[in-house]
Amino acid sequence: MMNITNVSEYEAIAKEKLPKMIYDYFASGGEDQWTLKENRNAFSRIMFRPRILIDVSKIDLTTTVLGFKISMPIMIAPTAAQKMAHPEGEYATARAASAAGTIMTLSSWATSSIEEIVSTGPGIRFLQLYLFKDRNMVIELVRRAENAGFKAIVLTADSPVIGRKEASIKNRFKLPSYVRMKNFEVMDLEKLYKTKDNGSHTSVVNGLYDQSLTWKDVKWLQTITPLPILVKGVLTAQDARLAIQAGASGIIVSNHGGRQLDYVPATIMALEEVVQAAEGRIPVFMDGGVRRGTDVFKALALGASGVFIGRPVVFSLAAEGEAGIRKALKMLHDELEITMALCGCPSLKDITRHHVVTERDRP
Ligand code: FNR
Repeated sequence: MMNITNVSEYEAIAKEKLPKMIYDYFASGGEDQWTLKENRNAFSRIMFRPRILIDVSKIDLTTTVLGFKISMPIMIAPTAAQKMAHPEGEYATARAASAAGTIMTLSSWATSSIEEIVSTGPGIRFLQLYLFKDRNMVIELVRRAENAGFKAIVLTADSPVIGRKEASIKNRFKLPSYVRMKNFEVMDLEKLYKTKDNGSHTSVVNGLYDQSLTWKDVKWLQTITPLPILVKGVLTAQDARLAIQAGASGIIVSNHGGRQLDYVPATIMALEEVVQAAEGRIPVFMDGGVRRGTDVFKALALGASGVFIGRPVVFSLAAEGEAGIRKALKMLHDELEITMALCGCPSLKDITRHHVVTERDRP
């Protein structure tokens, strides 16, 4: 095993191991990458107000998400094409998530199918959904997720079109021929690449997405499935309220890891506004830049019910396969545990807004 002491260290190893085109695809953000960097920087501007002399001899990290008990408030975000990181791809992620007792979200663009994920053994899984123009594709995917025992649909709402990741434009990124979009066996991307005018990955994907997606479609989704729907990509109070009105069971505050619209705020900065608008009616989760147990604690203190991680999974997978993801999850678990002890919070419900100071609190 590699001598790694925090999840951020996996990125440099992944960079060395992976072909440039693939590392750049995983690592990049939109345009100037301001939001990508700000997702991390904003965490560093939040400080703790620890409480002392509280019995922290037992720390409980367990929590419940949509009624499912998990070992810690740290879950796996959907990231596409994990077999580009490692031959085991999403299989490794599914096994590592189950071993850690947490939830895995499978991307629509996974390189292992819904059914293949189930074949790795039991686990709590969500399916991430893009709304395609071809609604039959959506209906079939949701049906397969239901049959496979997936527990929720994560509807990604921040990507009517793909953001401009300039490294990928320069590299002329295309999915390598050794990976396939396993949830859509009928979809021949290579053929689509050839038929599209400029043949870029982005133009092919944009051609499949439904740019006319609205809140009505969130309601439509509820007519085709009894599964709870989490809306991913909410950054404002207004949209939080609309998500509740549209019947969402939860919200994920996300800026797609800084890969879509550049110059949106860091998610940890947008979180509180969304939490306040949700008024406790549905749970609010967040992702973006979570790399430390202290980051998780800060998100919980600002009202999140849990966090998701994206790049730490692909980079630890690239570096050390399933063992890498297990280690990444364990490091985040242990860091959160220590942070809770040092802040005087024996359980997650003890973490409050009073335990952190943000820029908003200063005059
Ligand atoms: C993503 N993300 C993403 N989101 C989604 O809804 N469907 C997807 O297929 C993907 N694919 C994807 C690929 C890669 C390489 C990355 C880095 C991200 C976004 C993801 O779910 C999540 O919002 C961010 O990754 C969270 O930020 P961090 O943890 O990567 O900083």
